[in-house]
Amino acid sequence: MNPLLDKLQAYPFERLRQLFAGVTPNPSYRHISLGLGEPKHPTPALVRSAMIEAIEATPSGLSSYPATAGDALLRQACSEWLARRYQLQLDPANQILPVLGSREALFALTQVVINPGLGAPGAAPLVISPNPFYQIYEGAALLAGAEPYFVASDPARNFGPNWDVVPHAVWARTQLLFVCSPGNPTGAVMPLSEWQQLFDLSDRHGFVIASDECYSEIYFQDEPPLGGLQAAAMLGRSDFKNLIALTSLSKRSNSPGMRSGFVAGDAALIKPFLLYRTYHGSAMSPVVQAASIAAWRDEAHVLENRALYRQKFAEVTPLLAQVLQVRLPDAGFYLWADVGGDDQRFARELYAAYNVTVLPGSFLGREFEGHNPGKGRVRLALVADTSECLEAAHRICDFVKSRAAAVSK
Ligand SMILES: Cc1ncc(COP(=O)(O)O)c(C=O)c1O
Repeated sequence: MNPLLDKLQAYPFERLRQLFAGVTPNPSYRHISLGLGEPKHPTPALVRSAMIEAIEATPSGLSSYPATAGDALLRQACSEWLARRYQLQLDPANQILPVLGSREALFALTQVVINPGLGAPGAAPLVISPNPFYQIYEGAALLAGAEPYFVASDPARNFGPNWDVVPHAVWARTQLLFVCSPGNPTGAVMPLSEWQQLFDLSDRHGFVIASDECYSEIYFQDEPPLGGLQAAAMLGRSDFKNLIALTSLSKRSNSPGMRSGFVAGDAALIKPFLLYRTYHGSAMSPVVQAASIAAWRDEAHVLENRALYRQKFAEVTPLLAQVLQVRLPDAGFYLWADVGGDDQRFARELYAAYNVTVLPGSFLGREFEGHNPGKGRVRLALVADTSECLEAAHRICDFVKSRAAAVSK
């Protein structure tokens, strides 16, 4: 067996299951989960009908093997979306590749980028990840034979990592850096000045930047979040050297079950990535391609979806802010709340007393250099409809107030 498998950490939801083991939630309440970050708004009709049409067309979309590079029409639709959203001109022939959602692409790209042979004994190549983070970054790094290196998100910097604290010797060993903007769980959007800093470091040390942008279309500010490719173009880096952006329809178009996204950026990275994917066998089904073309071409459903989230966050956030330290994020569909104490205990007791699931922040962060920046916080995924999220928020208010009352007795 591959010994690197032993290095993988339990997934946050497995740890949550263990945390809740033996707890019987209060039966007077039906269960509400704010734990899992899975979109719950309905998949748009235009996406569903495009998929059905592709199955029923003659010959059926299922009767032939798809190409790993995807249909030219799909890559064209992705390129046109990048042009509308970010005013970018990318060549669909060699700067864009469809992927089966960003999760598998984050993992697979890491296997392509990392050269485990480059590290001297005891000095494995490094993969830099924000902390807290999406756990695939760490697993992908470990299975590629690299070591993860974590940079803590800093509440004083709108939860951005402070890249200045990373030692020179660490940058020198770094082969890949993950950016998550808008961030999971913090919702923070990385500003242009930080992109400039990371591009300079990448030029100096030769590492690749993988920009995970799957929450880019759910935002609460007037300005849409800055994308990595957009930042590069603004800084005159028209070849997107050493940069790949990953995006997805899962959140934008409420279709996580479709498994559809794309990567775009440096043609010198896209080429070996396509080669790798050909062997791995990750071509997208033609019916998913047809539905994806329809989704990327339409913005009306994205606007509607964003409006739903905006309404929901506008109602829920002030309620929770009465009892927790929490504020509207830049983007994404999470609240990242400071519970003023032990986050795991908070989650367990809330579940027991009010049958609401939230994810302890310490499960999303890693203890690194003596500090887990997720500690003391919980992640609340506002994915269910507004009434359910409001009901959960009211229960959380009652829970926090009853705890405070018990302490003051
Ligand atoms: C930060 C982040 N990146 C990537 C993904 C993967 O999404 P998908 O594979 O559905 O595109 C998720 C899913 O929750 C996520 O939170």
